[in-house]
Amino acid sequence: MDVKRVVLAYSGGLDTSVIVKWLQDKYGCEVITYTADLGQNEELEPIKEKALKVGAVKAYIEDVREEFLEDYVMKAFKFGALYEGKYPLATALGRPLITKKMIEIAKNEGADAIAHGSTGKGNDQVRFDVSAVALKPDIKVIAPVREWELKSRDEEIEYAKKHGIPVPVTKDKPYSIDRNIWGLSIEAGPLEDPYFEPPEDIYSMTEDPLKAPDKPEYVEIDFEQGIPVALNGERMGLVELVDQANKLAGKHGVGRIDMVENRLVGIKSREIYEAPAATMLLEAKRSLDELILDRETLHLKDQLALKYAELVYYGYWFCELREALDAFADKLNERATGTVKVKLYKGKATAVARKSPYALYSKELATYDPTDKFVHKYGEAFCYIWGLPLKVAAQVKNKD
Ligand code: ARG
Repeated sequence: MDVKRVVLAYSGGLDTSVIVKWLQDKYGCEVITYTADLGQNEELEPIKEKALKVGAVKAYIEDVREEFLEDYVMKAFKFGALYEGKYPLATALGRPLITKKMIEIAKNEGADAIAHGSTGKGNDQVRFDVSAVALKPDIKVIAPVREWELKSRDEEIEYAKKHGIPVPVTKDKPYSIDRNIWGLSIEAGPLEDPYFEPPEDIYSMTEDPLKAPDKPEYVEIDFEQGIPVALNGERMGLVELVDQANKLAGKHGVGRIDMVENRLVGIKSREIYEAPAATMLLEAKRSLDELILDRETLHLKDQLALKYAELVYYGYWFCELREALDAFADKLNERATGTVKVKLYKGKATAVARKSPYALYSKELATYDPTDKFVHKYGEAFCYIWGLPLKVAAQVKNKD
């Protein structure tokens, strides 16, 4: 393959630093690095320096937290999308944004390829590769880890030393970790045994529920058209709101997820997630939806949410079906305005109160007290008609 200039998704870690050098060696090309601040809580200036030091001709760094939350996370949030009913998709939602930015840079810089550090058996490679061709069909995508000869971490370290690439002095945790403002994904190492309980020290966004405060804490969340806009009555932008929500819920040990999930490439994988803000906000939003959506709409939304989560997980962000589903979710969220009170206590976030000017809930219909307006006698006719098909079927069956 002929490559002249490549835009590399660069984290500053050992893998992607080795990749800068390896790309130059293998393809004789120029390497431009791109690092997105998605809220991974890392200082970015040193990453820029490092990129240039290991041989990049240019290093882009960009804070995209707001765009990430507004244009990616909130779209999935409006559906309440969770992959396989559990995973809030933090990593999966970040990849298409990073790819989009890299493609923009590739266009501006006249690069003919992009590169990333994902392996050949994960989901992330799919999200990068597929998003890239969806945005620029003629772009080449290089994933060095899929093709290089370095077989172990030791070989990588050796390669790094040989080429003057700084090797981290601290002993690495044996896990593969990806973090952004919406959540943290942890996999590999001892977690590969699905019967092994994760040790307390793998968690960094959530307190051990055993050590969490003994008193519950209440948080009031205001929503406007499906989007959280205030915590405890204080209005704030999404970045600050999600940051604060992470701290509040994390302090109470909320948002730990332990699952065996189905990867797109056909293997099952044991994953640990931490998503305190996502868990708390999704719980609150769910409660609001229960109040404002009619039964059939809520049920259909729940079904489509699984589909939506699959599209995100499978790397199909840039597809028409996702856009069509967004239009559906936008319609459903027109009335998703209201307030939900969530109780945080020992690892759990529970919606305990909710109100909305658009609530479909009617006290006079629901109540069993004397103000009841429901016409009880109609219940009999309703049951007669509703049960009719089953009655006829039973009659036919009993004939033979
Ligand atoms: N299994 C999750 C996903 O597919 C998390 C991937 C985490 N990536 C990583 N490099 N550790 O979205």
